[in-house]
Amino acid sequence: MNLTLKIWRQKNANAKGQMVDYKVTDISEHMSFLEMMDVLNEQLVNSGDDPVAFDHDCREGICGMCAMYINGQAHGPDRGVTTCQLHMRRFKDGETITIEPFRAVAFPVIKDLVVDRMSFERIQQAGGYISVNTSGNTQDANSIPISKHAADKAMDAATCIGCGACVAACKNSSAMLFVGAKVSQYALLPQGQIEAADRVLNMVAQMDLEGFGNCSNTGACEIECPKSISLDTIARMNRELMKASLK
Ligand code: SF4
Ligand code: FES
Repeated sequence: MNLTLKIWRQKNANAKGQMVDYKVTDISEHMSFLEMMDVLNEQLVNSGDDPVAFDHDCREGICGMCAMYINGQAHGPDRGVTTCQLHMRRFKDGETITIEPFRAVAFPVIKDLVVDRMSFERIQQAGGYISVNTSGNTQDANSIPISKHAADKAMDAATCIGCGACVAACKNSSAMLFVGAKVSQYALLPQGQIEAADRVLNMVAQMDLEGFGNCSNTGACEIECPKSISLDTIARMNRELMKASLK
């Protein structure tokens, strides 16, 4: 395939960015989207130009690093996959593909397609954990009975990879699907009960402090989420928040 790429180039956080056109040729339909980007970057390096900066790590849909907005959709046109799992057979020969960073005030651009998602880390640090007694008398987690339904729901929520597609897809740049998933994975388990009230209060407060917007029930986040995290997690977070606020 021969393609035209329109890519957001921005030297650093303070520079003014712009869309720049590139041509790539002989792209195999079996390549992943990131392999196609590698081809472009080899081409740029060979001609003495600055390669396009983009985040990636596992290339297996696990780490959540490969954040890109492709043809107006977070992680591109396929449902339930990350950019690294997107294949070039999804595109047509001669097509023009637009590639931009995830855009949100709380995700400032560092360079080209790389955005700073430390705001998510700070939300996690505010309460996205459980404290475990490591004094030597720690109870084996498997000895605590958990219903199959709760375990399945908690596991579904725990599949969130913190990629930020939900924020990028939302017209309000809301992080509620991400925070809902992180709150839900503990709210459903006995281990998460002890710190439940502090967790939801602190995580939501940090989310607001970081400048994310509110949810207005559009549902774009759920559709664009590569792990198909359900809007139910937002409802559960709101219930947890209400309970904690009344305590
Ligand atoms: S909820 Fe989905 S889109 Fe949002 S950070 Fe988690 S995996 Fe990514
Ligand atoms: S590079 Fe890890 S999820 Fe895509």
